[in-house]
Amino acid sequence: MIFETHAHYDDDRFNNDRDELLRRLPEEGVGVVINSGASVESTRDTIRLAKEYPHVYAAVGVHPSEIEELDEDFIQWMKERASEEKTVAIGEIGLDYYWDKEPEVQERQRYWFGRQIELAREMKLPIIVHSRDAAADTMQVMKEHHAEEIPGVIHCYSYSKEMANEFIKMGYYIGVGGVVTFKNAKKLKETVEAIPLEKILVETDCPYMAPEPHRGKRNSSLYLPYVVEEIARIKGVSTEEVERVTEENARKLFYKVK
Ligand code: NI
Repeated sequence: MIFETHAHYDDDRFNNDRDELLRRLPEEGVGVVINSGASVESTRDTIRLAKEYPHVYAAVGVHPSEIEELDEDFIQWMKERASEEKTVAIGEIGLDYYWDKEPEVQERQRYWFGRQIELAREMKLPIIVHSRDAAADTMQVMKEHHAEEIPGVIHCYSYSKEMANEFIKMGYYIGVGGVVTFKNAKKLKETVEAIPLEKILVETDCPYMAPEPHRGKRNSSLYLPYVVEEIARIKGVSTEEVERVTEENARKLFYKVK
């Protein structure tokens, strides 16, 4: 089976077929889905989805571009949710300097990233890290908060293979999705080649990041086989091997998944 480590099925783009799609996934070979919170609202929706579908698990967290609505009350709410059976991670949290260029906003991003790392430590949960155009600061905040003591994944990985190895040294996994199938994704293909399969997780980030040949369309976990195939091609192993090892990796990291 394929273990989908990062999806956003709460997104409006699934309003017309969410239920049908989610119910179909296990029979299509996608046995587990982690739905990742990104805002206050989507984190609440994520908890609801995890309650409704046996194979859907929740990550609770607020994305760097949504931190203006985050406060200590919501941190406490997430803390209560984090002790529930189906909450398996804190995420997605991190830094995104692509959209936010103002120094004060970036500073608030660093504060709330650190605060949510501390929440993960307290709740003994792994973190799902979103990092865009902020490699050095991401590493710095993680080091300041001793994130090497908290395992996690750098999701939708977009930096160099050297940087990937730095994260791996800290005990982190590298999340690989649809981008790896793009012809111009040289850097990510090189990263996949350079790092051990034992450190890779597969993900969609759906509805975003649809792989070839569906690039630009709405993504879903049904397209994960394209990602698995490309990883298998790069690593020179079978698709079964990629599915088996990445599932094992995901179960090790997200230890609360049954
Ligand atoms: Ni995401």
